[in-house]
Amino acid sequence: MSEGVFVTGTDTGIGKTLITASLAWKFSREIRKICVMKPFATGNSEYSNKFRSKDLAILARAIKFEEKQENLNPYFYSLPCSPYMASSLLNLPPPSLRYAIKKFKLLQKKYDYLLVEGIGGIMVPLNPKHTLLDFIKLTKLEVVIVTTPKLGTFNHTLLTVKICKSSGIPIKGLVVNKMPPHPSKVEVVIPSFIQEFTNLPILGVIPTLHNFKINESTFSEISRLIDIDVKN
Ligand SMILES: Nc1ncnc2c1ncn2[C@@H]1O[C@H](COP(=O)(O)OP(=O)(O)OP(=O)(O)O)[C@@H](O)[C@H]1O
Ligand SMILES: [Mg+2]
Repeated sequence: MSEGVFVTGTDTGIGKTLITASLAWKFSREIRKICVMKPFATGNSEYSNKFRSKDLAILARAIKFEEKQENLNPYFYSLPCSPYMASSLLNLPPPSLRYAIKKFKLLQKKYDYLLVEGIGGIMVPLNPKHTLLDFIKLTKLEVVIVTTPKLGTFNHTLLTVKICKSSGIPIKGLVVNKMPPHPSKVEVVIPSFIQEFTNLPILGVIPTLHNFKINESTFSEISRLIDIDVKN
């Protein structure tokens, strides 16, 4: 059994959190000791007492576990931008790769399966020397890349795939999220063009949902559309 997955995306707001939570919900039906991690998060303000990061709060709604917030989200900055920029602008120390990986390894030891959500896109700067890519490499996890059929995103998708391949990061596949209810003739063929160009599996195409709640029924609806198994 693989020990986890890293969910990255072509951009911020692409659906990483919703996809990660849905996969966590699905996998938790087979694996009891499962956990989620959002190592680096930023936002306008802290979300709640329990979860500074709103993404972590959403991820935690998908599965049951007891874990300290500092382990799940070692770094949070109250400024919505990259962790490096946020730390500089707030006069705080930037994330340390070594500390973040220490937390990742601690969770990995404790749980049978870990789902880790990135932040923004793959080249988001963490500190003057490192980007998210460096963290992903150290986790040695396979990545799932979340993308959309939006005009201009094909380029971001290929760049993300290229950097993963050239950095030796294994890619499980891609999820095309937010397919409009009435896609244009271009949008409808985006998944097959991505597949043809990258030679990677399209694990799922998720429609733009309307009036949905962040709950089990949404996680179930989304995960049913993603062809991914916890055992491979
Ligand atoms: N398939 C979908 N249909 C409708 N809305 C969606 C869908 N997927 C995601 N969203 C919405 O889009 C917004 C961004 O999604 P999400 O927070 O999952 O993105 P993200 O990539 O995790 O962003 P961030 O970079 O902030 O972590 C949220 O409001 C989410 O509810
Ligand atoms: Mg998110």
